[in-house]
Amino acid sequence: MDQAAELRFSKDPIPPVPEVGHQVRVVSITSGKGGVGKTNIVVNLAYALSQRGKRVMILDADVGLANVDILLGLTPKYTIQHLLSGEKQFSDVIVRGPGGILVLPASSGVQELAELTREQRLQLLTAFETMDEELDVLIIDTGAGISSNVMYFNMAAHEIIVVVSPEPTSITDAYALMKVMSLRYAERHFSLLVNGVKGKEDADDVYKKLSMVADRFLDISIAYLGYIPHDNHVKKAVRRQRIVMECFPDAPFSKAFQEVTDTFLKTKVHLNSNHGNVKFFWRQLLDRKEQ
Ligand SMILES: Nc1ncnc2c1ncn2[C@@H]1O[C@H](COP(=O)(O)OP(=O)(O)OP(=O)(O)O)[C@@H](O)[C@H]1O
Ligand SMILES: [Mg+2]
Repeated sequence: MDQAAELRFSKDPIPPVPEVGHQVRVVSITSGKGGVGKTNIVVNLAYALSQRGKRVMILDADVGLANVDILLGLTPKYTIQHLLSGEKQFSDVIVRGPGGILVLPASSGVQELAELTREQRLQLLTAFETMDEELDVLIIDTGAGISSNVMYFNMAAHEIIVVVSPEPTSITDAYALMKVMSLRYAERHFSLLVNGVKGKEDADDVYKKLSMVADRFLDISIAYLGYIPHDNHVKKAVRRQRIVMECFPDAPFSKAFQEVTDTFLKTKVHLNSNHGNVKFFWRQLLDRKEQ
């Protein structure tokens, strides 16, 4: 079995569920290099989508530095760990943020999932699947790098948004991430969001550089989602533990984000054959075989 298949299936898979009509878009926000703005992008995208009538949930899967809750000014009592251990129900763990965004604090990572019994996994799956009816978009903050945790969430998502800043190290690390995802896990489609640039030209430059090398050396396509300028309003909003778009709707960051949201909503999702609906996402999560 190739590595991707090994990662996907455990020896004792839980049974398939019938497909349903309701589709939840599962998006992972990822980067090679840390500190490029992923978490800010996660919360602002969630907020922008909620403002457009979408029902959104954030899954905070950044094992090292979970801080979606901090950016939203929330203090969740529990994490997905309490759900996995059976100590708490889904409704106890989920917190509601600004604009009605739901947050599932998952800072414990996916390591624990491997230790669950089949029955526990089934119970959890039922809880997740019940929740799906109330969602349109699930956004995952994966954290940075190419650890198995990050790879795992990227692979299980329907679409992968790679965040990159104009620094050369961020560009090379984004390339390395896409290379690993394509060679090891057969991912073919990525979206690129350039953050922290001076303007359009800088951003276009970053996109061109990456798509040129990707075209030449990798069998992948990169859709351009747009760019977000460097804007000091971000730091101000972070200090207040508020969402930039909520606090400063007219700031350059927020205006650019509206455009990115338009593009996001217009973008057709390229589902790899191994991706299904959100039920498939949860199923993969729970059927994960330990590395
Ligand atoms: N467009 C921007 N303009 C100005 N500052 C920004 C912008 N985007 C992010 N920042 C700042 O960059 C820092 C890192 O942002 P953030 O925490 O969102 O990055 P991250 O990629 O999630 O980091 P990590 O990899 O550590 O999880 C923060 O201090 C944030 O305020
Ligand atoms: Mg982060």
